[in-house]
Amino acid sequence: MANPLGWIGLGRMGEAMARRLLAAGYGVSVWNRTRAKAEALASYGAEVVDRKTDLAGCACVFTMVSTTDDLKEVLFAEGGLVTGAKKPRLVVDSSSISQEGSAEIRARLEDLGVAYLCAPVSGNAKVAKAGKLLIVASGPKALYDEAEPWLRALGRKALWVGEGELARIWKIAHNTMFGVVIQNLCEITVLAEKAGIPRHVFLESINDSVLGSMYTRYKTPVLTHLSFDQVTFTPRLLLKDMDLGMGAARAHGVAMPAAAATRESIARLVGRGHEQVDFAILLQELARDAGLELRPEDVPVDDGLGTDPATLRKPE
Ligand SMILES: NC(=O)c1ccc[n+]([C@@H]2O[C@H](COP(=O)([O-])OP(=O)(O)OC[C@H]3O[C@@H](n4cnc5c(N)ncnc54)[C@H](OP(=O)(O)O)[C@@H]3O)[C@@H](O)[C@H]2O)c1
Repeated sequence: MANPLGWIGLGRMGEAMARRLLAAGYGVSVWNRTRAKAEALASYGAEVVDRKTDLAGCACVFTMVSTTDDLKEVLFAEGGLVTGAKKPRLVVDSSSISQEGSAEIRARLEDLGVAYLCAPVSGNAKVAKAGKLLIVASGPKALYDEAEPWLRALGRKALWVGEGELARIWKIAHNTMFGVVIQNLCEITVLAEKAGIPRHVFLESINDSVLGSMYTRYKTPVLTHLSFDQVTFTPRLLLKDMDLGMGAARAHGVAMPAAAATRESIARLVGRGHEQVDFAILLQELARDAGLELRPEDVPVDDGLGTDPATLRKPE
């Protein structure tokens, strides 16, 4: 008997999210292009499959890959999830992709008799491990109602925002703010430090001000310790999201000057060759532009997250 749930894409986010479903007691079968990442989940109770089509017997398959083209590839290219005679009933995709790409994928899946929900998320892998993701879904309401228990197991809250691809627009808007906030947070941190305020003191004060947020808090350790090798999200993925934001702004006739300036700043970060590092390395680049050489500050800082041991414990 197939597990009720399948998962494709076990990168930083997918691995953390699939583990939430396993910790909640669901049977999950998993596939990842780089098989070693899938095997790491076997000790948490996942069944590792060889082919994407091996997940066709699952009632619902979740996908969490990088881009619109990657999602099309895992679904429709040779050996793709829905290319066999047997197909899953429902695909739930949590990747951050375009509205148009998602609409095309919906049409192709529905033509094949496969239902589709968009379920992008707010929060990084650390947030996911702590059970604090927000999941925002769109698609047929009856499907959302069916998937809601699984979506709730993935995080702290699940919301339905409407039909079709509306959750894509939600995510694009969300990540545009995500980019603009890190740009501004880094700019003002450089300003404060160059003027003489220790970086961790400044960040602590912002976190405790009316402007502090879960986001400013969980980025505070990396901005303080300059631990950019601990990657949560890369500059290139952020550039993809800023480009999705600018594309949506053009499509809907909305001027977004702050987002446009941030998009160029992130493009410069990518152009400078920052690949497998955390996007918070933006701080270092902006400091250099200001003639300020940063040093790690070796002080303990609170990321505001804590951890939920239940999600990290391996089953006996
Ligand atoms: N990181 C975050 O903080 C965050 C937060 C919210 C949303 N997101 C979004 O979530 C998605 C995943 O992000 P991530 O940080 O988890 O990225 P990641 O660590 O780079 O993982 C990407 C995953 O997609 C798979 N993949 C990519 N292209 C593929 C293809 N053509 N065929 C098969 N598998 C493919 C990768 O397989 P391999 O392991 O073989 O490379 C990997 O499992 C992105 O859309 C991102 O924008 C990220």
